[in-house]
Amino acid sequence: MATKHFLCIVVLVLALLHGNVEGQLTTNFYASSCPKLIPTVRSVMQSAVKREARIGASILRLFFHDCFVNGCDGSILLDDTSSFTGEKNAGPNRNSVRGFDVIDNIKTAAEKACPGIVSCADILAIAARDGVVLLGGPSWEVKLGRRDSRTASQSAANRDIPAPTFNLSRLVSSFSNVGLSARDMVALSGGHTIGQARCTTFRARIYNEKNINSAFAATRQRNCPRTNGSGDGNLAPLDIQTPTKFDNNYFKNLMVQKGLLHSDQELFNGGSTDSIVRTYGTKPATFSSDFTAAMIRMGDISPLTGKKGEIRRNCRRVN
Ligand code: HEM
Ligand SMILES: *[C@@H]1O[C@H](CO)[C@@H](O)[C@H](O)[C@H]1NC(C)=O
Ligand SMILES: *[C@@H]1O[C@H](CO)[C@@H](O)[C@H](O)[C@H]1NC(C)=O
Repeated sequence: MATKHFLCIVVLVLALLHGNVEGQLTTNFYASSCPKLIPTVRSVMQSAVKREARIGASILRLFFHDCFVNGCDGSILLDDTSSFTGEKNAGPNRNSVRGFDVIDNIKTAAEKACPGIVSCADILAIAARDGVVLLGGPSWEVKLGRRDSRTASQSAANRDIPAPTFNLSRLVSSFSNVGLSARDMVALSGGHTIGQARCTTFRARIYNEKNINSAFAATRQRNCPRTNGSGDGNLAPLDIQTPTKFDNNYFKNLMVQKGLLHSDQELFNGGSTDSIVRTYGTKPATFSSDFTAAMIRMGDISPLTGKKGEIRRNCRRVN
């Protein structure tokens, strides 16, 4: 009896050390198989952000768009081919998501350090954290052990990634569809404290909406012509104050009707999430801790673990 118990404990401890409890991600997953992974990702991200600060934002968004479509499985990284349609050309991604070259560079470095060990899905999760940290945001321990999908779905990307035209109830339900709360949705929207959006995504707001600061609308109109199709790709910062610094200004902006996207201002428009926006706008530490907790929850969306999926050799194609 005692030996039996002892054996059980040994097996459990070994499983824990291996970071491999069925279906669960763990922060130490690569501790023995790839101890250099974390500094390797950090160093590639550091030079990428030094070259162009916005890339930290772009990689954070890549991770969000990966996780919302059948889980955080690296599906967004797969290139289209003549016989394969992936997610890169889905409406929310086409001419919009960026940073694939940086993920490739990290993958190359990770393969050099530990060949065949690290998934692209995990690389994206670590790189997203590093992007936030390198732009002055909070840090967190990234849970790991995801494997890479062998498929992708353009139709799921079109269906599951929320659009900037959404009202509050649709925003809330698109997050609840993946198990995230309204508070998680508001905290994660704080990702819009960094990065840029194209004129086509905010034109209707700056010309037609009433719940917008008029001086702010005028400023944005100067580089985003009224006519559809003209200047569609012109960029504006999602946070007018500090677009390359991860802080809580995004929420302060919402409180004075300076949200850039229709969906941004929906979070503070007399509805149920106003109080959360006010909390984050006045208590940066609360925003930081809610954001990091929500990032970990988002990273937990339907991962492939154990023997499911594969460890891709090249993030752009299945093995
Ligand atoms: C709540 C629903 C959301 C909607 C409707 C939304 C929509 C958008 C849109 C339309 C853009 C501009 C894209 C372009 O013009 O190319 C954008 C950019 C961005 N989004 Fe979101 N987003 C949402 C949530 C999130 C979340 C949860 C995150 C991350 C935690 C995030 C991070 C970003 C970042 C960092 C950018 C800038 C990317 C860059 O500069 O390359 N967004 N988002
Ligand atoms: C939000 O949008 C959906 C779909 O367009 C619509 O059915 C719903 O009535 C809207 N909700 C509110 C509160 O405006
Ligand atoms: C411009 O584009 C918006 C959004 O796609 C659309 O709702 C609107 O009807 C278009 N306006 C014109 C004049 O075509």
